Amino acid sequence: MKESNPTDPIGQNIIKLISNVCFSVFVFSVLIFTVIAITYQPPDPWESSRALTMVFTQVENATFKTDTSVLKTGEDVATAPVAMPEGSLSTITESTIQKSEEELTSNVTLKSGCEDVSVVNCSDPRVLIAIQRFNLRTYKAIAFLDYQTPVNGSKPDECDVAWRFRNKKDKSWRKYRDFRRFRLGFKDDCSYKVIHPGRWHSGINARRPRIQVNPSGNWQKGRIAPPVRDDEINDTIPLLGSDSAFRKGRYLYYSRGGDYCKGMNHYIWSFLCALGEAQYLNRTFVMDLSICLASAYTQSNKDEEGKDFRFYFDFEHLKEVSPIVEEGDFLRDWKRWDKNHKTKIPVRKVANYKVTPMQLRKDKSTIIWRQFDAPEPDNYWYRVCEGPAAKYIERPWQALWKSKRLMNIVSAISGSMDWDFDAVHVVRGEKARNKELWPHLDADTSPDALVAKLQGTIAPWRNLYIATNEPFYNFFDKLRSHYKVHLLDDYSYLWGNTSEWHNETTLLNGGRPVDFDGYMRVEVDTEVLYRAKTRVETFYNLTKDCKDGINTC
Ligand SMILES: *[C@@H]1O[C@H](CO)[C@@H](O)[C@H](O)[C@H]1NC(C)=O
Ligand SMILES: *[C@@H]1O[C@H](CO)[C@@H](O)[C@H](O)[C@H]1NC(C)=O
Ligand SMILES: *[C@@H]1O[C@H](CO)[C@@H](O)[C@H](O)[C@H]1NC(C)=O
Ligand SMILES: *[C@@H]1O[C@H](CO)[C@@H](O)[C@H](O)[C@H]1NC(C)=O
Ligand SMILES: *[C@@H]1O[C@H](CO)[C@@H](O)[C@H](O)[C@H]1NC(C)=O
Ligand SMILES: *[C@@H]1O[C@H](CO)[C@@H](O)[C@H](O)[C@H]1NC(C)=O
Ligand SMILES: *[C@@H]1O[C@H](CO)[C@@H](O)[C@H](O)[C@H]1NC(C)=O
Ligand SMILES: *[C@@H]1O[C@H](CO)[C@@H](O)[C@H](O)[C@H]1NC(C)=O
Ligand SMILES: *[C@@H]1O[C@H](CO)[C@@H](O)[C@H](O)[C@H]1NC(C)=O
Repeated sequence: MKESNPTDPIGQNIIKLISNVCFSVFVFSVLIFTVIAITYQPPDPWESSRALTMVFTQVENATFKTDTSVLKTGEDVATAPVAMPEGSLSTITESTIQKSEEELTSNVTLKSGCEDVSVVNCSDPRVLIAIQRFNLRTYKAIAFLDYQTPVNGSKPDECDVAWRFRNKKDKSWRKYRDFRRFRLGFKDDCSYKVIHPGRWHSGINARRPRIQVNPSGNWQKGRIAPPVRDDEINDTIPLLGSDSAFRKGRYLYYSRGGDYCKGMNHYIWSFLCALGEAQYLNRTFVMDLSICLASAYTQSNKDEEGKDFRFYFDFEHLKEVSPIVEEGDFLRDWKRWDKNHKTKIPVRKVANYKVTPMQLRKDKSTIIWRQFDAPEPDNYWYRVCEGPAAKYIERPWQALWKSKRLMNIVSAISGSMDWDFDAVHVVRGEKARNKELWPHLDADTSPDALVAKLQGTIAPWRNLYIATNEPFYNFFDKLRSHYKVHLLDDYSYLWGNTSEWHNETTLLNGGRPVDFDGYMRVEVDTEVLYRAKTRVETFYNLTKDCKDGINTC
């Protein structure tokens, strides 16, 4: 009787107790989950980010001791499967080739068998099929995307064909073009076979001529030397448009800070912090496209201002993944608005980096303007992302890819080795001179040590690409009696004054030629290195010294 009494205090208390325990467990698990969620940090493409964090917490003289002879950016890291634009990237595989072949043989109107056996007809679809199959089997590092119909080469048994491809190691979905000349023959059953593939960009009859509007009617000129140009690059600066569009936007504006003219790793670390804050606040980032290149990378050995962001990074990709306005346009629109309207644009000025992004989340001002007027190192952008903010701001590494114009050079270098090469990364420079922090590096990267070490790892007479910051070209000559040695300087025609790169960067730079500077060299070296079949690293493979100096590994 007692048990069923609804006012029984014991029964009620038990229920209360149980529900309290349940609730506490619930609260606790939510708490745990939240802690896990907010302390989770996505992988950082810089291997030495641990060392970096150390460097950054000792903010006094926060210099970057990270490896400056390679540069990893978004296309080198696979944090998540890269979301590719839909339908744009169906690759050609053995099964798609078979399918088109079956379609052909079922088509009675087509000649097959041994008629006209001596004539190679480049327009015959079976020629393309033979070439596609050959490419698929020969260039395994490449994903082939689409082909154009082959055209005549310079001899009757030659055909030129162009296609677009990606490198399977590239985490971006950018497409590159190749066009090669193939010599064709016939198999016993009279089907086509490739006898000899041409070199990278040898199929000049197949390269697409640039569409040129020539009012003088002199079309012959455009036909004879069609300039090769990557017309797939669109890195024009997006415009804001009307006053009302400007007013409707929400902007995050960072004044130039102490980061200006520091090393490029510092620049990236700071820039991605700022962009990460803009994304966190759901604001358009106001971007200064003018970069100051630190003396370490310039030919003049002095800091050089006025370098365009687009020389180094892929602005087209950046503006696609993150809302961006250019600083000059932005300031002009802002001034114009304030001149034409009685009410000024609401601005929240933030003078100290200690004001966290979380505190700004509720702010409705059109412009949040972070000013960095404090003395160094309190005027570094990346300080905004320190402390508790680090748990909320994710640096959007995937937004930062290397310039497509530089990547075209990377494709040309690795393509001219038919993507069949090994590479060694030889870090020398300042580290080799600093015997205190890297006692063995100099000896371990000497020519004799390299010969001895590489012979165990890389087969003789392979293509060997050497990515290095050693400035002396002949330093690696001893390796030439064992390998086909390739150095970046062997490809200087790719950025020389008749190159596509030169023409396009000159155009971007208002008609003034652009130096191929040390930072661009690092970017190209890095990407060629990552495309190698076997890769030998300085640290871990060539020397036991630690990457960041003695006792750091
Ligand atoms: C910071 O840099 C200055 C000048 O570059 C130098 O005099 C000072 O010793 C450095 N401080 C530390 C802790 O390295
Ligand atoms: C047969 O060839 C004709 C023209 O050459 C083409 O339009 C048609 O699609 C082909 N049929 C098949 C099944 O491929
Ligand atoms: C080459 O092949 C195309 C397509 O099959 C055909 O239309 C053309 O007549 C052929 N040319 C010669 C010279 O056989
Ligand atoms: C290609 O070469 C063949 C003979 O080798 C010739 O009959 C054909 O007209 C040429 N095609 C073009 C488009 O020049
Ligand atoms: C280039 O991109 C901009 C957007 O950023 C677009 O408005 C413009 O039409 C594009 N130009 C070409 C030639 O595709
Ligand atoms: C971000 O801002 C845009 C317009 O500025 C707005 O449409 C969108 O809803 C906002 N998203 C979030 C998650 O606040
Ligand atoms: C390109 O450079 C070479 C030597 O560096 C020079 O002789 C030549 O005149 C230059 N050509 C152009 C078009 O600037
Ligand atoms: C670059 O421009 C020069 C001069 O205008 C021209 O001779 C050369 O063919 C161009 N090179 C490429 C690859 O477009
Ligand atoms: C280089 O060292 C790493 C780490 O010890 C190892 O996994 C890799 O196989 C080595 N590479 C070569 C080519 O020896």
